[in-house]
Amino acid sequence: MENLKNKIAENKLPDHIAIIMDGNGRWAKLKGKPRVFGHKNGVTSVREIIEGCAEIGIKYLTLYAFSTENWNRPKLEVKTLMALLVSSLKKELKNLQKNNIKLTTIGNIEHLPEKAQIELAEVIEKTKNNSSLTLTLALSYGSREEIVNVIKNISEKVVNNQLNIEEINEKIINNHLYTFSLPDVDFMIRTSGEKRISNFLLWQMAYAELYFTDTLWPDFRKENLFKAVLEYQNRERRFGKTSEQIETINE
Ligand code: IPE
Ligand code: IPE
Ligand code: MG
Repeated sequence: MENLKNKIAENKLPDHIAIIMDGNGRWAKLKGKPRVFGHKNGVTSVREIIEGCAEIGIKYLTLYAFSTENWNRPKLEVKTLMALLVSSLKKELKNLQKNNIKLTTIGNIEHLPEKAQIELAEVIEKTKNNSSLTLTLALSYGSREEIVNVIKNISEKVVNNQLNIEEINEKIINNHLYTFSLPDVDFMIRTSGEKRISNFLLWQMAYAELYFTDTLWPDFRKENLFKAVLEYQNRERRFGKTSEQIETINE
């Protein structure tokens, strides 16, 4: 694995990696266990991936932990996921501090149980001055809901004469998203073989490189992350330009 890690070029790292952590339920089912067993084991992958990102020098990592649509799952599963969030936050604070990681969230946090909100607020406050990696948890997050809120907030400013319609541009929209302080996503990973975006960071992923792997989330560990980053480094990001133009910039 050290070998794999050493192959990663420091000057071609994605600034911002976003991950759809999928496949916990199927992982558990394969082992003849209830779905929540998969979620519990998924926490180990979360810890490893955060650590792996910190090791190679990733600046921003955003993890899709719970979608607006996930509220429609069986009550017991939702309850277990929320309890896991609280216990993991309690356990991981030490590690976040040790690795100089700052925690933030995106999503409709007020929808979460009070206990989870309190725990999140505490970890966010205690890690706010950390500067190596910004870890963002997407919780009760839906990209469409986020965009609806942006439109409402901008419209209100227009109605109140705080903003002219002509002034609305991409930057203004960016500044109203939950992700206003984060750069665009460079690299999006989804585990478990599903090849869809499922309402995650639609605006922010406009030019992200997408990576889909069959590995189920509880099996996705550092080695898998390093392999994915190596593939990212072999891709050519053109942003609408020609390959020749990109080569000239890189020379
Ligand atoms: C991802 O795993 C975790 C969450 C969405 C919270 P799933 O629970 O979606 O697992 P599968 O897709 O059913 O296997
Ligand atoms: C996406 O996974 C949400 C998270 C990983 C938190 P889902 O399992 O909810 O997505 P779909 O329903 O398969 O698209
Ligand atoms: Mg799933």
